Amino acid sequence: MTARFPTARPRRLRRTSALRRMVAETRVRPEDLILPVFVKEGIDEPRPVPSMPGVVQHTRESVRKAAEEAVDAGVGGLMLFGIPESKDDRGSAADDPEGVVQRALRDLSSDVGTDIVVMADLCLDEYTSHGHCGVLTPSGEVDNDATLERYASVAVAQAAAGVQVVGPSGMMDGQVGAIRTALDQAGHTDVAILAYAAKYASAFYGPFRDAAEGAPQFGDRAGYQQDPANIREALREVELDIAEGADMVMVKPGLAYLDVVAEVAREFTAPVAAYQVSGEYAMVEAAALQGWLERERVILETLLSHRRAGASQILTYWATEAARLLR
Ligand code: PBG
Repeated sequence: MTARFPTARPRRLRRTSALRRMVAETRVRPEDLILPVFVKEGIDEPRPVPSMPGVVQHTRESVRKAAEEAVDAGVGGLMLFGIPESKDDRGSAADDPEGVVQRALRDLSSDVGTDIVVMADLCLDEYTSHGHCGVLTPSGEVDNDATLERYASVAVAQAAAGVQVVGPSGMMDGQVGAIRTALDQAGHTDVAILAYAAKYASAFYGPFRDAAEGAPQFGDRAGYQQDPANIREALREVELDIAEGADMVMVKPGLAYLDVVAEVAREFTAPVAAYQVSGEYAMVEAAALQGWLERERVILETLLSHRRAGASQILTYWATEAARLLR
């Protein structure tokens, strides 16, 4: 009897790193990455975020330095989050022309605005005293339509300060349409919208609420963010946002929702971004601190997996470091 050899040997193409590199189907480029940055009003030194080792709340000066480092590493974009000195029930600091994000936007637009895409998160939770993403009704629920007026005003303030892309993240119905109309009426037809279209009510946002100081003071966000059980609902949200004028759409969180990323990328033609959120970052950093994971390999593997699932852009707190590793 003659020996029977396997007729197919996929291992042939895995034998050397040169072969593997040549046949790789997916790549992550520094340009695919977007760095979220926190800028806090009224502090003199950057403040470390305890639950996110390596991440800080920036001062007005230190955020400029972080932006230049991101540019040098080849990162594609910056997503700004502001933490104001004082909060009130309508989040007045969010659309103040001298508010923390508007100031940072003016600085960054003039420093690096031609080298990197300058974006800003558009929400009220960091700005409201109660920590919810909008204004409240007398009974304490988030008032969708009254919140839309606030978002429209915030969008125009950010645009006047030089933002190139706004990222509405509050999950109010009709927010993309309200923002698009307001931007157009104010003459900002070139400002693009990256809609946090499928944003789940996720426990993975825990550390972010330390970083952005936006934890709800009562209740939770399950009444406006999506139920993790649903994917058809995500497609509906994306469809609505695109119909209302979203230029790009986002799925958030990332790793636990890559099936949603894949489905959205298959169904729609707009670029799909995924947000590798604070809890995903914290898990890897915590395990790496214990010596339980190979930190850099895990970071690059998670980024590659987002791309393989169909994400065109990835928001990640590792953007600058990962961009350097990828070069
Ligand atoms: C809301 C917002 C949140 C995040 C981004 N935008 C928090 C929330 O919805 O509770 C979370 C990002 C992260 O966890 O890294 N402005």
